[in-house]
Amino acid sequence: MPETTCLGLHIGHDRAITITQGTEITFHIAVERLDRRKHSDAPELPIAEIRRVLDRLGIEPPAIDAVCATYHAVDAPRIAKTLQADFQDAFPDFLGRFFALDHHLAHALGALACSPFADALVFVADGAGDARLWGSQSESLFHVSRRNFYLVEERLQDRPLSTVQRPEFFLPDFFGAGEQKRQISLGLKYEQVTYLCGFGPGQAGQTMALASYGKPLFDIEPLVPRNFGFSLRYVDILDRMDEIACSYGLTLRQFSKQDRANIAATAQRFIERSLLSLVDYVVTAYRPRNLCFAGGLFLNCPTNRLIVNRHGDKGLFFLPVCHDEGQSIGAAAYAHWQLTGTLPTAAPAFPYLGFHYSNDECAAAFHAAGLRCEFYDDTTLAKQLAKLLANGRICGLLRGRSEAGPRALGNRSIVADPRLRQSKSRLDAGIKRRAEFRPYSPMVHSARTGAYFAPQMQSPYMLLTSHVRPEYHHLLQAVIHIDNTARVQVVDSAQTPFLAELLLRFEEISGIAALLNTSFNDECEPIVDSPADAIRTYLATDLNALLLGNHLHVKPES
Ligand SMILES: [Fe+2]
Repeated sequence: MPETTCLGLHIGHDRAITITQGTEITFHIAVERLDRRKHSDAPELPIAEIRRVLDRLGIEPPAIDAVCATYHAVDAPRIAKTLQADFQDAFPDFLGRFFALDHHLAHALGALACSPFADALVFVADGAGDARLWGSQSESLFHVSRRNFYLVEERLQDRPLSTVQRPEFFLPDFFGAGEQKRQISLGLKYEQVTYLCGFGPGQAGQTMALASYGKPLFDIEPLVPRNFGFSLRYVDILDRMDEIACSYGLTLRQFSKQDRANIAATAQRFIERSLLSLVDYVVTAYRPRNLCFAGGLFLNCPTNRLIVNRHGDKGLFFLPVCHDEGQSIGAAAYAHWQLTGTLPTAAPAFPYLGFHYSNDECAAAFHAAGLRCEFYDDTTLAKQLAKLLANGRICGLLRGRSEAGPRALGNRSIVADPRLRQSKSRLDAGIKRRAEFRPYSPMVHSARTGAYFAPQMQSPYMLLTSHVRPEYHHLLQAVIHIDNTARVQVVDSAQTPFLAELLLRFEEISGIAALLNTSFNDECEPIVDSPADAIRTYLATDLNALLLGNHLHVKPES
């Protein structure tokens, strides 16, 4: 069989593009990185961005053997013909097959394909999957091997209320009696509370951060599900909060303004205990050797930590692109499976699967912006940069291929000295422009994680929290959350030699092989992808230096 090329597409919110070539997933990018619209939410195929990807990779449409698309909350097979026609209109030379794939199955296939396992149970939990006869998927469990897959269990939720876009939809007094009985997913419950706390769509991470500042308002243990047959309604948790608000003579909305940290803590505790309990059930009922996790709820780092603590004796894999951006990975994997009978594996570069820009392109971008830059070889660059950072400069980095997923892992990152509290306050005020309660995270050299954190962990994707050992608190002040945890990215010299070198050079000066690492973007934009994006953000913010490939520009000190 000749080598195949497959294209995976996700539409809806967090549109994304993935390509398999031969037996590997070789390319992935979120469309927001290209169209520069956060979450790139649209029901159409991202034709211009697909064209840009194919052009840059040198793939002609006739060379694509199959395309597979996913959406959410639809009946995927029903929209396949429409999407195929749209694709064919844009690429008339395309001669391959076209598929549309079920949402949760796409999550599951993407997770197994990128995992190191030959087979696993995959637990999927998100806001909503695809439509079923009377509802839509909420949580599901699949068995996936490299050659086969099937649904093991699923829980369905009622179709969302038509009022879901209205801000009142999370307030119990706006529901009729019938509506109050409607079932919703764990993901939608967390989203409801996120809105109640005053955040918007896609801002569940803010609820997670705020939760550490509060205490649960009541004992949620009696509400925790024990298997997939549980009931969770629009008013669950919220009705208890409503009762507490009433006892203070307040409406729930008034109460949420006064006590939102405790409200966030209540939801966080509920989600942690619920997911952990469901994983306990899966382990007891099915005794899997390996477990994978996908769906947006598994961006919840404290929950992931609890699962690792309890079930670390199993093979565990949390997909770093577990939210809907990862759908295109599952879609591409499915197309590949349709043609070859096996799922592809992730290329060794995973999760660094996006665009790479050459040093010539980086120099040209600086030149076009009228900025004079210096070229350094990698060794000199690591030393120069370490010195700048130890002197309190905050630097934007764009090197190598961009990362898949919402967390910058060093190739499209802003880095700063973790010892200085001002690193955080300066980022909050002049660069990221975000609320003070949100923590920043450290990247740490793999040889030092055991010394700095307990428990030690392999966490290359910034998906697990860990406690900072007290003797290192003073060296990691800018990256410790209020609960003394940090969301760590472990840097390994085999995969990212430049970052590892940078951390060791920084340690020589500072005594700590760690840096504050946050995504390279400002408050309103997606993470930068191209040198031109990086320069725009660099000039619009208080960043002190910018590294593009091996070219460095440092702003004059003011
Ligand atoms: Fe999803």
